Amino acid sequence: MRALLLGGAGFIGLHLARRLVNDGYEVTVVDDFSRGRQDADLSSSSVKIISADLTDPASYAGLSHGWDQIYLLAAVVGVRNVEKDPARVVRVNTLAAMHLLDWVAPGERVFFASTSEVYAGGVDAGVAGVPTAEDVPAMISDITAPRFAYAVSKLLGEAAFLHTARAKGFDAVVGRFHNVYGPRMGADHVIPEMSLRAQAGEDPFLVPGADQFRAFCHVDDAVEAMVRLMGTPEAAGQIVHIGNDREETNIGDLAALVLRAAGASPVVSATAAPPGSVHRRCPDLSKLRSLTGYEPKVSLEEGVASTFAWYAEHGRPS
Ligand SMILES: NC(=O)c1ccc[n+]([C@@H]2O[C@H](COP(=O)([O-])OP(=O)(O)OC[C@H]3O[C@@H](n4cnc5c(N)ncnc54)[C@H](O)[C@@H]3O)[C@@H](O)[C@H]2O)c1
Repeated sequence: MRALLLGGAGFIGLHLARRLVNDGYEVTVVDDFSRGRQDADLSSSSVKIISADLTDPASYAGLSHGWDQIYLLAAVVGVRNVEKDPARVVRVNTLAAMHLLDWVAPGERVFFASTSEVYAGGVDAGVAGVPTAEDVPAMISDITAPRFAYAVSKLLGEAAFLHTARAKGFDAVVGRFHNVYGPRMGADHVIPEMSLRAQAGEDPFLVPGADQFRAFCHVDDAVEAMVRLMGTPEAAGQIVHIGNDREETNIGDLAALVLRAAGASPVVSATAAPPGSVHRRCPDLSKLRSLTGYEPKVSLEEGVASTFAWYAEHGRPS
């Protein structure tokens, strides 16, 4: 079995590559290393690495066909990147998807990585409930706001994948990830960011958005969900949530878990949430469960402790 991981040198890609190699796949990763890294974790002889820019159609033209599974993970992600250069977000995320759709062959099976951010406008406007199901309206409350450039690019990608799959005769599965976390995920996500500050002994310990609620999903569970969806014929043509609905937590309690992992007890100081971030996010996972039988396995305490330990060993990613 052969799997192609586009943007596979990033956070989710690395964990997915490892899992697919363990499952006996021959894995090829394509990445431009704008964010991902070619580190020891990817040096397995069973992973072939191709360095290429997926916004260039020539990068696809150079690839063979006959893949059992193709995953499109390449994107510009992270609030800081999105706020800093929304035009790049739209350009990279859209072109990587559109060139893939021009290249993919009938009969292949493709996973498109989308996001819970498509609900942020609807949750804030009160038209999407929480836990949120896939069939509520996706809503962009301000098309001019830089932070929505990411959700716009992902919504375009979803529509392009689902319509083109029907037109060209390939299988497309759209996974909307909800707050996936774990080792080697970069530093600008809440769990690694807090872990690094706790390790540096910050006191008082700042907790932005302490009263906001999130449902965090360990990357091992997210990978399990992806693999199951790609092995389920009925998932073709569907948009499906990937997350963990079992342990919704507020950010203040999450900070307490990180500080427990650090063995630290600084003064905790709750500060304002980052502008525009949604108050509560939790996926309804009924569709994922009924299609695949998935159940999240990694508890938040266990996942935070192992992520904290990884950052204690490796430090801030360069
Ligand atoms: N981590 C999450 O919680 C989360 C949540 C929602 C959606 N997603 C989606 O899942 C996917 C993977 O996310 P991640 O957290 O692993 O991000 P990541 O940034 O770690 O990985 C993305 C990879 O894409 C590569 N890339 C970017 N532009 C490229 C280009 N032009 N050509 C080739 N490669 C390019 C980067 O170098 C990086 O290795 C993304 O599409 C993201 O939008 C992730």
